[in-house]
Amino acid sequence: MTTYSLALIGFGGVNRALAELIRDEPGRFAALGFDLKVVAITDLAFGSLVQAEGIDLSTVLAMPRGASFVELPGGNADPLNEEVIKNSPADIVVEATFTSPVDGEPAVSHVRWAIEAGKHVVTTNKGPVALHGTELTRLAAENSVRFEFEGSVMSGTPVLRLASSMFGGLRIKGVQGILNGTSNYVLGQMEAGLSFDEAVAQAQTLGYAEADPTADIGGSDVRLKVAILANELLDANITPNDVETTGIEGITPGDVARAVADGRRWKLLGQAVRQGDGSVTASVKPLALPAGHSLAGISGATNAVSFDTDLLGHVTVSGPGAGRTETAYALISDIIAIDAFHKDGVHA
Ligand code: HSE
Repeated sequence: MTTYSLALIGFGGVNRALAELIRDEPGRFAALGFDLKVVAITDLAFGSLVQAEGIDLSTVLAMPRGASFVELPGGNADPLNEEVIKNSPADIVVEATFTSPVDGEPAVSHVRWAIEAGKHVVTTNKGPVALHGTELTRLAAENSVRFEFEGSVMSGTPVLRLASSMFGGLRIKGVQGILNGTSNYVLGQMEAGLSFDEAVAQAQTLGYAEADPTADIGGSDVRLKVAILANELLDANITPNDVETTGIEGITPGDVARAVADGRRWKLLGQAVRQGDGSVTASVKPLALPAGHSLAGISGATNAVSFDTDLLGHVTVSGPGAGRTETAYALISDIIAIDAFHKDGVHA
């Protein structure tokens, strides 16, 4: 059986959930035909840890906040990201740090270092993909490794790989999605009579919204995802700044009540559409959808994407767009794609 060695960059919710799955469910991976071994972890709070024979995951998962990897053999109080990414014995770098949506750093550098060192990269980070996806994919091909990022849109719900591996022979004319759980939840709660502020506070309590929910309700989280969908599915070659963006802050209880009376539902829609001249226009804006629209029934914090195709018409996939285990599954699906590439030369 093949064993892949992983370096976890960032040890927050998503990579911890991946570590728990590796520790608790080896049979899940054995059934896929490979084993996973974590040989390095870096984290701003814990520092860095490299153990080529494999890190005991129960030990690190039990460490309380405030503890440091310096207490362990191979440990250091500093994250040492560059050193670990370039020189640890990992085959696959799992990038799940907090990253600036403006320049994608530090994740973009982490991805570059890994690829240039000949390591595959899997990430759930939107920044590097939305801002430098095409360049990083090219760099990976030049270095004969894979750069996989299913979790950058809708966590583990298959969207990018569904289109790239199952839509052979179809032309995608456009894509529309509900790509932020918080804003969808808030609009739904306003339909139930809550005020905007009450609904946002509830979304924060339930853990959907970011601590600062500006990116959720202002549309900038969706803007990054739309740029990724436009570039990956429509070869648009755009940046997030090319995506005209309006959030849901301006939607009033009166707007919501009028839409409900009219059989409509407000949704924050991200869209990218190929125009007659071949160019792609992309936007994020609230729209009051008629009941029969394929995205009108998507409720709560659920996300969905509807692909507009030439031979099938609309194909819609809905599912979770966030969550630690749901996002860790995206990393697993990326590792499966790397395994297929290794074993069969398949570009999933
Ligand atoms: N806060 C985001 C959401 C999480 O509400 O969907 C994923 O980007």
